[in-house]
Amino acid sequence: MPTLPQELPIAPGANLFGHLRAFDEDRLGTLRGLSRMSAPVVRARFLHREVYVVNSAETTHELLVERARSFEKSPGIRILLRDLAGEGLFTSEGELWRRQRRLMAPLFHAERLGEYTRAMRFEAHRALDRVGHGARVDLSREMTRITMGVVASTLFGTDTAVEADALGEALTAALGFTGDALASPWLSLQIMLVELAEAARDGASPRLRRLGAWGDEVLRAPVLLPGARSPRFRAAIAAIDRTVQRFIDTRRAQGLVRGDLLTKLLGAKDPDGSGAGMSDRQTRDEAKTLFVAGHETTATALTWAFYLLARHPAARARVQAEADAFDARPDAQHEPSSLAYTTRVFKEALRLYPPLVMIARRAVEPIELGGVALPARAIVFACPYALHFREELFPEPDRFEPDRFTPEAEAARHKSAWIPFGVGPRVCIGNHFALLEGPIVLAAWMKRATVEVETSRVIEPDRFATLRPKGEVWARVTRREEAA
Ligand code: HEM
Repeated sequence: MPTLPQELPIAPGANLFGHLRAFDEDRLGTLRGLSRMSAPVVRARFLHREVYVVNSAETTHELLVERARSFEKSPGIRILLRDLAGEGLFTSEGELWRRQRRLMAPLFHAERLGEYTRAMRFEAHRALDRVGHGARVDLSREMTRITMGVVASTLFGTDTAVEADALGEALTAALGFTGDALASPWLSLQIMLVELAEAARDGASPRLRRLGAWGDEVLRAPVLLPGARSPRFRAAIAAIDRTVQRFIDTRRAQGLVRGDLLTKLLGAKDPDGSGAGMSDRQTRDEAKTLFVAGHETTATALTWAFYLLARHPAARARVQAEADAFDARPDAQHEPSSLAYTTRVFKEALRLYPPLVMIARRAVEPIELGGVALPARAIVFACPYALHFREELFPEPDRFEPDRFTPEAEAARHKSAWIPFGVGPRVCIGNHFALLEGPIVLAAWMKRATVEVETSRVIEPDRFATLRPKGEVWARVTRREEAA
C-alpha cells in the first residue's frame, strides 16, 4: 500500500503559515534540517499549499530521471523567470522544449567545447591584465566579467567587456527580486490563481474556457509580486533586453555565417513545414536564457572555489602545483586531465555551495514517488543543497574535501547524490561547459597571480535566486611575473 501524503513527516520550522517564514528567513538552515531527516519524501506547506521534498538520492532519481515524464517545471519558476527567461529552454515545456533542446544541443558537443577553451583562457587573462598589480578586487565582480565574456564570445560571437559591470549590476537586481519573491505569500497566491485559471481553461463551458485562457495568459507574468513593478527591477530587465537585442541585431547585420547560437536560432525553421523562422520573441527568450544561465552560476561557483582555497592551504598548494604546470596560453591544446585536482576542487565547491539550491517540479498526473501516492498537480522539490549535506552520501559533510570526487569515489556514489546541474532530461545543457570553464579560470589565474582572499570574516551565502556570497569577496591579486 502506498503511503498517503498526509502521513509524511513535516519539514522542521513550520508556523501557522507553514514554511514561508522559515524559508524566507533561514532558507539554508531549513534545508540543512531536511538533510538530517531520514524520510525519503517530506512534506512542507506554503500558506494553504502542501508541497513535497524528495529527500534521498533514490527519490531524487525517481523524480528527475525515471518519472521525469510525469512532471513539468513548476508554475512558480515560470512566473518568477518570466521577465528574465520568458519561454526559453530553462522554462519551456513539451514539444517546444524538445525542439529547442535538439536545436541547441550541438553547441555543447565535445568538439565544440574544445574550441571554447580558447575563449575561457583568453577571458581569464584579459581580466587579470586589467587588474593592477597588488590591487584589491571583488572576486564576484571579476568572475562575472570573465564568465560573461566567455558566454558572449562563444555563444554569441560578441564582446561584453564595455558593459559587463553595468550588466552584472542589472543581473544582481533581477536575481535579488527572484530570491526575495521565492518565499513571498504573493507568489503562493498567484500560483493558486494560475491553477484556478488552468482548471477553468480545461473546463466544459466555453465561456469559462475563454476566461481561463485569458487568466492563464495574464498570470504567466509576475503580476501580483510588488517587486516586479519596481523601477529598479524594470530597469534591470530593460538593460538585459537591450544587450541581447544588440547581440541579435549585430548578428543579423553580419549575416549568418558562423556556427554559433544566434546563427542557429535565427536560421531555424519551424518544423510545421511553413518555412517560417523562429519568432523574434522566441529568439530573444532563448538568447536571454543562455546569456543569463550561461554565466551567473559559473561566476558564483568560481568565487566560492577561490574562497574555499583561501581557507584550505593544503588544497591550495595542490591546485597551485597543477596551475604551475598548466599551459595557460589561449591557443594551447587543452588536456582536461592536466587539471584533475583543480576540477575536484571546483566540484567540491559546487557541492558545498550549489548555485541552485532547489529544483521544482509539478506532477502532470497522479503519481507514486518513493512509495508515496501524490495527486496530480503536486509540487515536488528536489534539493541539491540538502542532498549534498547528507552524512550517508558525503561523510562529514561540512568538511571541504575535493577527493570526494576522485573517479573511484564518484563511481561508488549514487548517480543522483551530487546534482548541482540537476539530472535527467532537464539536466543543465551547459554542465560540461561549466566544468571546463571553472578549472581553466582557476588555473589560469593561479598560474599568473597570487590571489589572497581576505578570510578575516566568514562569508555566508546570500538570499539570492542563486547561492551568491553575501557582500563582496575581497582579494589581493599580486601578479607573479611582476612580483618576480
Ligand atoms: C556552475 C554552473 C552551472 C550550474 C550550477 C547550473 C545549474 C543548472 C541546473 C540545476 C539546471 C536544471 C534545472 C532544472 O532541472 O529545473 C540547469 C539548467 C540549464 N542550464 Fe545550467 N548551470 C550552470 C551552468 C550553465 C551554463 C554554462 C549554461 C550555458 C552555457 C547553462 C544553461 C542552462 C540551460 C539552458 C538550462 C535549461 C536546460 C533544459 O531545461 O533543457 N547552465 N542549470
